[in-house]
Amino acid sequence: MRCYFFGMSIYYFEKYSHFYPFRDTDGLDYTMCTISVWEQVRMYCVRKGSMPRSFFDCGAAVGYLVREADMLGLRASGIDIRRYPPVPETEKYFASGQIQIKSILDAAPVTADLAYCNGTLTYLNEVTLPIALKKFQNVGMLIAVHNTTEDVQAAFKTGEPIVHRESRLIRSNDWWMNIFRNNGFRVDFDSENKCFCARPIKDDAASKYQGFVSATRLGGGFIRAFSRGV
Ligand SMILES: C[S@@+](CC[C@H](N)C(=O)[O-])C[C@H]1O[C@@H](n2cnc3c(N)ncnc32)[C@H](O)[C@@H]1O
Repeated sequence: MRCYFFGMSIYYFEKYSHFYPFRDTDGLDYTMCTISVWEQVRMYCVRKGSMPRSFFDCGAAVGYLVREADMLGLRASGIDIRRYPPVPETEKYFASGQIQIKSILDAAPVTADLAYCNGTLTYLNEVTLPIALKKFQNVGMLIAVHNTTEDVQAAFKTGEPIVHRESRLIRSNDWWMNIFRNNGFRVDFDSENKCFCARPIKDDAASKYQGFVSATRLGGGFIRAFSRGV
């Protein structure tokens, strides 16, 4: 049985929380879905305990997510290997250079608090993926969402035509979890949004150290105050 909703497969409608009916990056229905920046910010806050101040869309396509992030008050930027036909709402981000046309493999290390890859990592291969992941070693958190072996199998069961291009890196959830771990990230799989939330280990260690320093300062302040009889 094939299940569609507004021309898009139910599978993808359920998988992603956000749907842009006006966007179609490469002519396939699933490219019209994503996770809203707002929801990504929520996932970031839950894991990092702070608000992100900047957002980087790796595979920004026509730039709608960069625009959403900008409208939410984040410092927004992005990159895409291809230039899609311009749309008026997002043209200014290309003109200003906030969105660059370049491969992530040729880009400078990403420094945004929150980085996002929707499908982009599956364009890479087992040799180039670690090179790309290195670019995210300075972010606060990387959210990656893409088709996995499990997605393809689940969709085949309902007869939905998930596009499984041979050239894409379709691997199991476990495979992806290990890739993140083996490339310097602490990772969990968000079952609600069906995405990987990867935090560079060095950044996590730094936040824990900062937390320890603040707690120690606070504790020291109390001890001094009490010893002075305040
Ligand atoms: C599914 S679209 C994501 C669109 C948008 N970020 C969203 O979530 O709505 C994936 C994008 O990744 C881009 N892409 C593929 N390989 C890339 C690379 N090496 N560097 C940068 N972008 C790449 C593609 O051109 C495509 O536009």
